[in-house]
Amino acid sequence: MAIILGIESSCDETSASICIDGEIRSNIIASQAIHAKYGGVVPELASRAHQQNIIPTVDQAIIQAKISKKDIDAVSFTRGPGLLGSLLVGTSFAKSFALAMDIPLIEVNHMQAHILAHFIDNPKPSFPFLCLTVSGGHTQIVLVKDYFEMELLGETLDDAAGEAFDKTAKILNLPYPGGPLIDKHAKNGDPTAFKLPEPQIPELNFSFSGLKTAILYLVQAEIKKNPNFLEERMHDLCASVQDRIVSILLNKLKKAAKQTGVKDIAIAGGVSANSGLRSSLLAMGEKYKWNVFIPKFEYCTDNAAMIAIAGYHKFLKQDFVGQDISPLARMHV
Ligand code: KG4
Ligand code: ZN
Repeated sequence: MAIILGIESSCDETSASICIDGEIRSNIIASQAIHAKYGGVVPELASRAHQQNIIPTVDQAIIQAKISKKDIDAVSFTRGPGLLGSLLVGTSFAKSFALAMDIPLIEVNHMQAHILAHFIDNPKPSFPFLCLTVSGGHTQIVLVKDYFEMELLGETLDDAAGEAFDKTAKILNLPYPGGPLIDKHAKNGDPTAFKLPEPQIPELNFSFSGLKTAILYLVQAEIKKNPNFLEERMHDLCASVQDRIVSILLNKLKKAAKQTGVKDIAIAGGVSANSGLRSSLLAMGEKYKWNVFIPKFEYCTDNAAMIAIAGYHKFLKQDFVGQDISPLARMHV
């Protein structure tokens, strides 16, 4: 039997999870509301909130899993990528815990963990599969050959998909994080109401900065004509923006599937919670006879369950690190 404690602290969620023999028994997430009033994550405030939250969060994860601290066989933590000050809190906690309990320490790459969240529940994808990982900081198409053998096929050249949602939301006067709000407004809007450009980017790469500028110009021009434009057309605007972001993502995913011949197709990361992306991917999967894998909502945005499951698969390989490990703000899949 293997009991793993997973720790996630790369951005603005402090999270702890217990995984017993590959099964998630708890996944506690302490979100940081403090950033909303600043319109984005403030790194220093995030580090302080992690420092406050980490021990109560871990305690709760242990209680909910109905185990005691001394039952834990190893601790896995997010080494990167992310905000360095935030990562330092989780890393230092994990190192201290491993040292105190005399158990192995396991480092986890946050972007790999988003993908490995697909191994929490059934059905699980089979190798090799393609994963579109879309979060606040990344937009990647990854060919997943094995648990820890991943090839980056394409990525964004500027903004991430989550940033495209959040920055657009800011233009529309919606609070941070805007992605979920755009999703909500889009449900009552017409996706064909506004024509937005699809960037012509080579290969399997993405670009979202042009889209953001196009939306800004459109909104500025319309507000000049009608000061109530945003209030009156919010639903249609959100639906059109979401539709374009989703089509940019899925057109590249379709290209990747064609190029590789892979039929198991997954999405991961915070933006995979988007209802438009989820439903369009399902429809595309039907059309092209793909096996589509979409994570449960709780495993889309940042969580420690994905760090614990990744840790479990490294534990099986006895892939441990020493106490001299330090976090990395940048890490590749
Ligand atoms: O993976 P994640 O929780 O954190 C990072 O590692 O970045 O992703 C957060 C991103 C934010 O940009 C947020 O706006 C976006 O995911 N997001 C969404 C939705 N839920 C979260 N974007 C669009 N629609 C959603 N429903
Ligand atoms: Zn993430």
